[in-house]
Amino acid sequence: MILLDGRQTSSKIKEEIAATVSKMKQHNQRVPHLAAVLVGMDGASMTYVGAKVKACELVGFESTLIKLPEDTSEQALLKQIDILNNNHEIDGYIVQLPLPKHIDEQKILMAIDPNKDVDGFHPTNVGKLTLDLPTFISATPYGIMELLERYDISTSGKHVVVIGRSHIVGRPMSILMSQKRKAGNATVTIAHSRTENLAAITKQADIVIAALGIPEFLTAEMVKDNAVIIDVGITRVPDNIKKKGYRIAGDVDFESVSKKASHITPVPGGVGPMTIAMLLKNTLQAREGFGDAH
Ligand code: GUN
Repeated sequence: MILLDGRQTSSKIKEEIAATVSKMKQHNQRVPHLAAVLVGMDGASMTYVGAKVKACELVGFESTLIKLPEDTSEQALLKQIDILNNNHEIDGYIVQLPLPKHIDEQKILMAIDPNKDVDGFHPTNVGKLTLDLPTFISATPYGIMELLERYDISTSGKHVVVIGRSHIVGRPMSILMSQKRKAGNATVTIAHSRTENLAAITKQADIVIAALGIPEFLTAEMVKDNAVIIDVGITRVPDNIKKKGYRIAGDVDFESVSKKASHITPVPGGVGPMTIAMLLKNTLQAREGFGDAH
């Protein structure tokens, strides 16, 4: 069994980005600048955004963190977005999700300038993705594609089962892997909460991508020998033994599934670290532009 090491791979990508930034500096070019908007004090969101800002520093990007109170109105947030859209010093930005319940998430995401949408959530960018046009690919699916590529995992003609149809992971993942691209050309099945006989389907998969958000859902009986397993889950499960009072659990029962898998991502240290590296990659892309196609 080979562990797909997201920590090591993301470090390598960050080194590559840092080298590019260093060249930009040598040529007196402005370095990429990422901004992040955080509304409220959600613990997990604060951790993620903090990690994103820290990663910017590591590779030599400029970063701006905009923290807004929980009771920020939708209108005030839209105003902030307008400011970011018109700030030419900022190449790309993200609005950390989830947003407080009184704010319409879709309305906010639609207001982001697609050229600065380094999360790849705007309908324009999702549309471009589905049409094979160059665009920002959202960080988690992009990170998984990069892991598969860098570990030379053969996907062409293989059966991939994606569990979960979320806009952030499952749906884009199913599109990417069916496309004519490296780590693509796969036969893709997208399974979800209404799928009947899920185990019979996952048992046929050469590659399983578990992105449903239920801790340790995928067990050894559900996978075939030598399958490639990608675990996207990151649920906080209460655990009194841990100092923080919780542990991070994936969607895969690593203990049993790792004995059967040819390759598997650990949690933590698999897909998670890749997402930050790919957000940086998108920000670099935002700085450089997509040329005429964008
Ligand atoms: N919340 C969980 N994942 C993400 C992400 O990739 N981007 C943003 N903006 N919010 C998130």
